[in-house]
Amino acid sequence: MVTIIPRIAFVVARGANGVIGADGDLPWRLSSDLRRFKAITTGKPIIMGRKTWESLPRRPLPGRLNIVITRQAGYQAEGACVVPDPGEAMNAAFDQARQDRVTEVCVIGGAQIYAAMMNLVERLYLTEVDAAPEGDARLPEIVEAEWREVAREAHPAGERDDHAFILRTLERA
Ligand SMILES: NC(=O)c1ccc[n+]([C@@H]2O[C@H](COP(=O)([O-])OP(=O)(O)OC[C@H]3O[C@@H](n4cnc5c(N)ncnc54)[C@H](OP(=O)(O)O)[C@@H]3O)[C@@H](O)[C@H]2O)c1
Repeated sequence: MVTIIPRIAFVVARGANGVIGADGDLPWRLSSDLRRFKAITTGKPIIMGRKTWESLPRRPLPGRLNIVITRQAGYQAEGACVVPDPGEAMNAAFDQARQDRVTEVCVIGGAQIYAAMMNLVERLYLTEVDAAPEGDARLPEIVEAEWREVAREAHPAGERDDHAFILRTLERA
């Protein structure tokens, strides 16, 4: 029997200055990007840090196994799977992906978790937001030469978007 190893993808929106978060929240309102986030991640296991979990307006995100990484023993996250480190998060995500026959697991942030899993990621769903907001959470640098762009779509700001943005999909070169 062939064992399929699911691909690890990041789903992230960053400003032109690398900022992804401010004061525990997103630094912008981008409804169009949230729709894209839902379309990409629904049906796939999603991995996140405890702070991102606590920032979600609705918990857990429905239709996906929510996996929360924390060092706190006994941390309660109702409706989610709580794990002590990124390795255990991957184990839980891969088990679920195999069970559901999906070929991708999604890391959805925040900055600490992207940094911890950067060397494992094979695909980036990257929203480049046309803004440089102040913030305290940043995406680690993405070295473009290490990636191949497989899709790119520019979007003007919609009615419920603070900024214009570009949707990019990158794969490891
Ligand atoms: N723009 C985007 O696409 C996007 C996406 C996601 C999040 N964000 C933003 O990013 C910010 C949150 O990012 P953040 O970096 O502050 O927090 P985070 O990565 O969401 O969570 C950090 C927490 O995860 C746990 N953790 C981190 N590394 C760990 C490890 N190696 N082993 C075990 N546990 C570990 C710790 O939890 P404990 O302290 O409980 O031990 C740590 O405090 C928010 O502003 C959020 O809105 C933006």
